[in-house]
Order: sequence, then structure tokens, then C-alpha cells
Amino acid sequence: MLQDSFGRRFHYLRLSITEACNFKCQYCLPDGYHGPSDDTFLTLPEIDTLVKGFAGLGTSKIRITGGEPSLRRDFVDVIRLCRETEGITKVATTTHGGRMARDAAAWKDAGLDQVNVSIDSLDPRQFADITGQNKLTQILQGVDKAIEVGLDVKVNAIYLKHFAGRQLQEFKDWLKHMPVTLRFIELMETGDHPQFFADQHLSGLPLKNQLLAEGWMPVIRGKDAGPAQEFHHPDYAGRIGLIMPYSKDFCATCNRLRVAANGKLHLCLFSEHGIDIRPYLQNADVNGLMAHLQQLLMQKHATHYLQDGNTGATSHLAMLGG
Ligand code: GTP
Ligand code: 5AD
Repeated sequence: MLQDSFGRRFHYLRLSITEACNFKCQYCLPDGYHGPSDDTFLTLPEIDTLVKGFAGLGTSKIRITGGEPSLRRDFVDVIRLCRETEGITKVATTTHGGRMARDAAAWKDAGLDQVNVSIDSLDPRQFADITGQNKLTQILQGVDKAIEVGLDVKVNAIYLKHFAGRQLQEFKDWLKHMPVTLRFIELMETGDHPQFFADQHLSGLPLKNQLLAEGWMPVIRGKDAGPAQEFHHPDYAGRIGLIMPYSKDFCATCNRLRVAANGKLHLCLFSEHGIDIRPYLQNADVNGLMAHLQQLLMQKHATHYLQDGNTGATSHLAMLGG
């Protein structure tokens, strides 16, 4: 079992399979991706060893992230591999959604259960402004397709100061009839974009108070719930969640570990350095990996200290898939 020195248990792995992304989101990779190519990232056999090792220690959920995971040609094979590993009961991904209208059915067939899609605005011009891609219509078609094939869909919108008022109203109108969970995410400070953070970061707490005042009711947290606080409302088909890493208790219920596409384990999204576990993967050494992981967990800190101004060495979240 994977447990840290604070008694937190980790049944959930976020596995990045590529750092590459073809979007240019202002808060992430505004100049586009210029890093290593996919042939340097974990291979399918390496991923197999990794997933077996984690599953052997009680991991039951895997979220496949990027970069943009669907850019990898063997994305469907990765989904299937995770799905077929004993002990893995949930396979999810986080995507920009650009390929979802075309591929959601194939992802579902391979064994995908959940998809989280980043949609920062429902206004096509604003969407293009934030992401560098004029693809809102196509992505919304992808959301419809994902629902149609039976995937559980969540939508992520970064909560940005200059857009917040309009963003909220547009999303609320949309949620009247859309059975998805929309999560507003507080912008996190990363090394690359201190100025963007200074200009655009907004606390989610006033929004939470506004939702409560409008009759949105907190959803009781499940025992395996992630960082989002969710709310429901009788007049809406969808839910609203808030992800507020700048609030004090955010890390107390942390249940996830991360492995980057280069085979480094990150005990926290804001860990300064990843820990290289790739030799175990290259040697297909599942037992060695399991023994090492258990020791490494003792190094996990209580919190990411974001509220104290830590940005760690995380230059952007694309490398770790958030
Ligand atoms: P599920 O609980 O599986 O739905 O995952 P999620 O909502 O955490 O996944 P998703 O990939 O959609 O991430 C949504 C946002 O939460 C992203 O901005 C992530 O960076 C952020 N996030 C997820 N986990 C953590 C965490 O452990 N720490 C911090 N600071 N942010 C996180
Ligand atoms: N702050 C908050 N969320 C971010 N994401 C990417 N960069 C940041 C940031 N600086 C989000 C994306 C995606 C998720 C995986 O991480 O919007 O939905």
C-alpha cells in the first residue's frame, strides 16, 4: 500500500505520457511547445511496468495526462493497457478535447471511463484568445460525443480575473441543460508566467459565497473525492466545482501521485524535482519499483506551500499535466 508519513493514502496516479501540446494557452504554454519529442517519453512497455507496480501497491485509478495525451499515436493502446491491468478500476484522461468528436468512441471502447476537458470560455473569440486555437465549436461537439458514448465528463475552466463575471454567467446558462461538472480552477503560479499570475489570479472564495447565496448546495464529498468542492442546484442539470489550491486545507486530503512523461515521480504537483524511477521501468522490474516507491513516499511533504508564495521549480503545468 502507498501511504505517506501523514497517513494519506494514494490510490490515484496521474500519468503524463507526453509533454507536447498543440495549444498555446496563455497560462500554460503561450509560445507553444518546443520541448523534447515523443520518442524520448515513456514507451508502452515502460508504462506497462509502471502501471503494474502502482497497481500492485493499491492504485486503482489512473488519469492519463500530457501535455496533450491524445497527441500520442498510441494513446488508445495506453488506455487499453491501463484498463487491462489487474487492480485498475478507473481510467480517466484530461484533454484539450480537440480530437474528442472524432475519437471519443474509440477511447471508450479501449476502456476509458472519464474525461476532463479544458474549456476556459464559451465565447469563441475569448476561447481563441486564451488558448491560441479557434476550436471551441469542435470541442463542444466533442463534449456532446463523449456524453453520447457514455463517458463521465468534467469541464475545467481557469478562473481568470478579466473574464470572471461573464465566464460565470455563460457557464451557468450552459449548465442548465448540460449534465457535466464544470470546475473553476484558481490560476496557479508557475515559474514561466509570474506577470500573468499577478494580472489574472482571482480567489475562488467570493465565488463560493455567491453560489451558496444563489441556492447552490454543497455535494457531500465522497471518500475518494479530489480537490474540487462541488455544488448542485435543482434548476441545473450540471454541477459547479471549485478547485482552490490557495485555500488552507487543500492538501490535507491529497490522494494522488504523478509520474512525468520522462519517467520522474513527482510527490506533489509543485515538487521541486522529480525522482527518476525510469531505470526500474527500463528493466521491467516491477518488484524493485514497488519497494522503492514505498520508501519514496516518506519524503512527501504536508502541503505545496502555494499559499506561502511557493512556485517550486514548476515552470508550467503542461509538463506534469496539472
Ligand atoms: P479527478 O479528481 O480525477 O476528477 O481529477 P482532477 O479534477 O484533479 O483532474 P484534472 O486533471 O481535471 O485537474 C483539474 C485541476 O486541478 C488542474 O488545474 C490541476 O492542476 C488541479 N489539480 C489536480 N490535482 C492537484 C493537486 O494535487 N494539487 C494542485 N495544486 N492542483 C491539482
Ligand atoms: N493554473 C491552474 N490550472 C492550470 N492548468 C494548466 N495550467 C494551469 C495553471 N497555471 C490546468 C488546465 C487543465 C488542467 C490539467 O490543468 O486548464 O485543465
